[in-house]
Amino acid sequence: NQRKNSDENVKDQQLEPFRVDNEGKKMTTNQGLKVSNDEDSLKAGVRGPTIMEDFHFREKMTHFDHERIPERVVHARGFAAHGEFELYESMKEYTKAGFLQDPNKKTPVFVRFSTVVGSLGSMDTARDVRGFATKFYTDEGNYDLVGNNIPVFFIQDAIKFPDLIHAVKPEPHNEMPQAASAHDTFWDFVANNQEIAHMIMWHMSDRAIPRSFRMIEGFGVHAFRFVNDKGKSRFVKFHWKPVLGVHSLVWDEAQIIAGKDPDFHRRDLWESIEIGDYPEYELGIQMLEPEDEFKFDFDILDATKLWPEEIVPVKKIGKMTLNRNVDNVFAETEQVAFHPGNVVPGIDFTNDPLLQGRLFSYLDTQLIRLGGPNFSEIPINRPVCPIHNNQRNGFSRQTINVGRVSYHKNSLANNTPSTSTAREGGYVHYEEKVEGRITRARSKSFDNHFSQARLFWNSMSPPEKQHIIDAFSFEVGKVKSKSVRQQVVDMFVRVDKAMATTVADNIGVNRPKGEQINVTVSSPALSQANTVKVPQT
Ligand code: HEM
Repeated sequence: NQRKNSDENVKDQQLEPFRVDNEGKKMTTNQGLKVSNDEDSLKAGVRGPTIMEDFHFREKMTHFDHERIPERVVHARGFAAHGEFELYESMKEYTKAGFLQDPNKKTPVFVRFSTVVGSLGSMDTARDVRGFATKFYTDEGNYDLVGNNIPVFFIQDAIKFPDLIHAVKPEPHNEMPQAASAHDTFWDFVANNQEIAHMIMWHMSDRAIPRSFRMIEGFGVHAFRFVNDKGKSRFVKFHWKPVLGVHSLVWDEAQIIAGKDPDFHRRDLWESIEIGDYPEYELGIQMLEPEDEFKFDFDILDATKLWPEEIVPVKKIGKMTLNRNVDNVFAETEQVAFHPGNVVPGIDFTNDPLLQGRLFSYLDTQLIRLGGPNFSEIPINRPVCPIHNNQRNGFSRQTINVGRVSYHKNSLANNTPSTSTAREGGYVHYEEKVEGRITRARSKSFDNHFSQARLFWNSMSPPEKQHIIDAFSFEVGKVKSKSVRQQVVDMFVRVDKAMATTVADNIGVNRPKGEQINVTVSSPALSQANTVKVPQT
């Protein structure tokens, strides 16, 4: 089962020479010397001290002493699997991305699911956002779609990300609570950074306690760009839709499972793949014409807003199947390095200020997490297409670059960039027109923090609403500061007065005095938008 696809999966073929199986083999040192005894260190006399000469002892112990690498600064706990992506129909009209042209082509993928807050050893069923990161090993280089299972985000500008994470991680003086948002600093951040309102509604909903990784959606969150071979650009948002549908636990189940089987989600994924019940997700896109950029009553570059699917429909364009478990969790799941900046021709960025900051952060953190600039040579990170450039040396360099030329321009090696022609395919950034004065000011179009939070609440069924009230009561109820608890209900009255009032009663603070805001499901501005009407498959 495990090796079923090896013949046709180019990534699997690439990994094969790196696999080492010790079964039935004689032990050696790392230098290849056969070992005669692996249990007793070399001593001066049977009861004497260990001597420096014992190179086998020193090699074994020093390797062990250096086994750990830093866990990810966020999304530390995760689990991953290999698979394939197949396209339903060519996307040539919208993007020149090679892996989105031919429905007969299979693209190898590696997907890592994760929680955001908890450390490497935390439990799977914590109330948290789930990461859903996909690496497509395309012929034009690695394309990473680094998404979450919730379509919006906590903040609008990347410069606030360190603050958000400092607030949500365990408090620094006592490193509590682990993997939970039920504490003072998190809710203090919420009440004082109100762009978070929409995300918190999702976070308090059943979406934050999924039943299985096989049953979560994935969202690229930001607006990206598709660019076709004529240079025409459209805004695009990416969605993964699980074929099994979206299913959640209830909170009591999540808590009991956290105690009885902290590995619940990874076990579920692993076992499904082992028995051949392969998890499947359809890739969906929402597209907008550039001329519709300002037709909405929110900013399409604001990561705290989604594009309503009834106005900008999701078109399903392909399917991903996860069909092989990893051979080694450290080598693959831990060492994989996703980066939203890993794109291919035909996919480009927008000016979303959250996305712009992410483009810096991932490579920066991976330089320290994976020990220097050569982590793209780690087997799981290697593209399946050739690599040629003038980068050299650094810790643990694997490539043996031959020749004497490691600079550009030159006349001795004639190694030049590709042109941007379709034949050569050199990546060219979309030539968006930008203008303005340098400023730290925020666009007024990013100011509306509560409309979509209220729409989300209105879209919930009565049991789902009750679950949200219970979640607020549990999580905010754990906050020691009465002032913070009061600030939270005073904030969420804007989403729904009855909800905030019930929570206030449950957590022992005054009922909020403010009023909820009123919104309609679709504003005139929204329905006038001339969105890209792509045929549904
Ligand atoms: C992981 C930064 C927003 C999804 C990470 C990591 C960093 C980071 C430093 C660890 C990477 C590593 O060690 O390999 C940021 C910053 C953000 C941001 C600065 C905002 C300014 C987001 C958003 C999403 C997201 C909006 C979802 C759309 C993920 C996922 C991972 C991750 C899925 C785990 C990848 C894996 O499985 O290895 N992020 N992040 N992040 N981030 Fe973000």
